[in-house]
Amino acid sequence: ESVTLSLMSEAVSAPTECEKRVCVFGTGDMGRSLGLRLLQAGYSVMFGSRRPQSCNFLPNGAQVLSHAEAAQAAHLIFIAVQREHYDFLVPLAYHLKGKVLVDLSNNLKKNQYPEANAEYLQSLVPEAEVVKGFNTLSAWALQNGPSDANRQVYICGDRAEAKQVVLAVATKLGFSALDRGSLSASRELEDFPLQLFPLWRLPMRIAVGLTAFFFFYLLIREILYAYITQGKDISFRIMVSLANRVCPIVSLIMLALCYLPGVLASFLQLYRGTKYRRFPDWLDRWMLCRKQLGLLALGFACLHVLYTLIIPIRYYVRFWATERTVTQIRQNGTNEFITSRAWHSDSYLSFGILGFGLYVLLGITSLPSVSNALSWREFSFVQSKLGHLTLLLCTIHTYLYGGKRFLSASLYNWYTPPGYMLCLVLPSVVLLLKLLLVTPCVDRNITRIRQGWEKGADQ
Ligand code: HEM
Repeated sequence: ESVTLSLMSEAVSAPTECEKRVCVFGTGDMGRSLGLRLLQAGYSVMFGSRRPQSCNFLPNGAQVLSHAEAAQAAHLIFIAVQREHYDFLVPLAYHLKGKVLVDLSNNLKKNQYPEANAEYLQSLVPEAEVVKGFNTLSAWALQNGPSDANRQVYICGDRAEAKQVVLAVATKLGFSALDRGSLSASRELEDFPLQLFPLWRLPMRIAVGLTAFFFFYLLIREILYAYITQGKDISFRIMVSLANRVCPIVSLIMLALCYLPGVLASFLQLYRGTKYRRFPDWLDRWMLCRKQLGLLALGFACLHVLYTLIIPIRYYVRFWATERTVTQIRQNGTNEFITSRAWHSDSYLSFGILGFGLYVLLGITSLPSVSNALSWREFSFVQSKLGHLTLLLCTIHTYLYGGKRFLSASLYNWYTPPGYMLCLVLPSVVLLLKLLLVTPCVDRNITRIRQGWEKGADQ
């Protein structure tokens, strides 16, 4: 587990003259940006270069020396060169003895080399103390400082003293350093910048898969069905009516998918009778991306609300409303006000609004700036208790919307159930399982397990 070292940084004393001297090998974008920030933070910076005379565009105030001179002059050396050029360090091994080398390098793809760059560097100069770090920052982030970019710097290395030195510099530059363990973790750190929204990938796939499935399902059973069986072209409905079915359906299923892994995990703990065994990998991964699942689900719910709000201004709706009025005037007829219908429509709309209100609250509390201001108890209250309540309200909204239609055989076009019936399956299962979990006898057991009790440990 990562241990935040930033608190410990307060114990780091002010840098001595020697500690204030740092060396940067590499005069590319990364090296130059790092040099500039180090200078701004009060360090005296020496660049090591093969051709010190012909180095241009280096930050004002930095010295340019030969590699050997620079290596001798500083205790801390940042290696901002590509791995393929590490060979130049081998002849410098004598000067690098006991020095802290920070490996900033990244690769173009995963598993490009048999070992991590930092481990390779350590094998080239075994008597230096290699620390992997700063590689997750871009040259841009380094130049502009943490206010404009990510504040976190990950470091790993085998020697605690060496890591402390790097930590002190990271903190002085305004970053918060996170220790990811020994140098063997460097491959993981080198893979970080290659990942593209890693936690969003699974939720995005689920969202795209569900959207595609329900879009085609509803397209066939509503629009194609009307065309084939009645010769009616209602294809214009794709744009709003169909979208306003697909969005809430996907949203409700994804909301249920947010809460399903938690419920499954509780049942697994109950079954195993302990909380000390790891969950299967798939469950772990699922639980880790719940926030992203929830935020995407919220996005679909917002679309549903927007589509619903524009219903009165649609040409199709206005046309039929006027037609009906004109027909009634012509026939001199009136419609009877049906109170039960008014109750029905107001109730399902009201549940939708309440559900949506809580949904937005959940989304807001999942933002880091808000969740950081909450205690763990407050956060879990909002995300778990209010989360399940949101799911319940949205499910009731959909059940009420379905209303009596659940029993109407004419709605099963081509023997297929309407979308809202399909989308109710998962939320209903999750809510039922949750209901089971909160019954006193099950709740008592799960609380005992979470407090550390283990099956068989009493005997
Ligand atoms: C259907 C309104 C929030 C899930 C509907 C419909 C309306 C509506 C008018 C019927 C649409 C139609 O006839 O095509 C609202 C309002 C909301 C709200 C005003 C809040 C301001 C939500 C939320 C969810 C949700 C938060 C949960 C994700 C559904 C579902 C349907 C539906 C699944 C059935 C879609 C179908 O197959 O036709 N809602 N809703 N709604 N709503 Fe909502």
